[in-house]
Amino acid sequence: MTTEREKVGLAALHRRLHSVLPNVSLTCQTLPNTPAIRLWLLNELFPEQALDPRIVNAIMEEPPYWSFCWASGQVLAEFLLSNPQWVQGRCVVDVGPGSGVVAIAAAKAGAARVIACDLDPWALAATELNAAENGVSIELSQDLDAALADAHLVTAADILYDRENLPLLARFRRAETVLLADSRVPDLDPAGYRLLGQWQSCTWPDLGESSEYNGVRLFASEPSAPGNV
Ligand SMILES: C[S@@+](CC[C@H](N)C(=O)[O-])C[C@H]1O[C@@H](n2cnc3c(N)ncnc32)[C@H](O)[C@@H]1O
Repeated sequence: MTTEREKVGLAALHRRLHSVLPNVSLTCQTLPNTPAIRLWLLNELFPEQALDPRIVNAIMEEPPYWSFCWASGQVLAEFLLSNPQWVQGRCVVDVGPGSGVVAIAAAKAGAARVIACDLDPWALAATELNAAENGVSIELSQDLDAALADAHLVTAADILYDRENLPLLARFRRAETVLLADSRVPDLDPAGYRLLGQWQSCTWPDLGESSEYNGVRLFASEPSAPGNV
């Protein structure tokens, strides 16, 4: 049953979404490749006809990334649910949660504590709503340094669309372990990380993006040498 707090949170997200995309709404959807998780996501694809340039500008300035589940988020969430030993009993910090998909999977898989850390307060609002929908508890933060100080495991899915985030990969390695999923940088070969595997997925709802964005690679950090952080 939806609580009053969730209704207020959903209404606020709708207002925010409509300031960018007036004719779409959020519906609660089961993820096709991760049926254990339900998320409030866009219920329609972008219209076939050309968008009003003002709408395009608004999307580019403040993209509602939290209204989609990204290909890497789906793959990393499914990986954690299938391999709960990565999170069990640990403090997990999910950087760039968007809808919260990976943070929710970590909580469901048995993490002792989950902190979702995003620059975008609307992503944190979406994560809060989606955590409630899935019956899990997630802490919210915009302070990456404070969150990383508590992390045993850092997770990050599809945050490298912004190449300025590449230096974060070295910072994440202060945690015992990092799991990084990416579909955006085809030649990614991050120092101090090893490839765990590769899967096919897509953004949900499916944006029909070029197939080059459907391959998700999952990396895990190599243990640091003593004194090397
Ligand atoms: C493409 S979305 C991916 C969301 C989710 N991880 C998934 O896979 O569905 C990227 C998210 O990362 C957030 N983000 C980007 N750079 C960030 C940074 N430096 N620190 C924290 N969050 C960041 C964005 O606000 C957005 O919510």
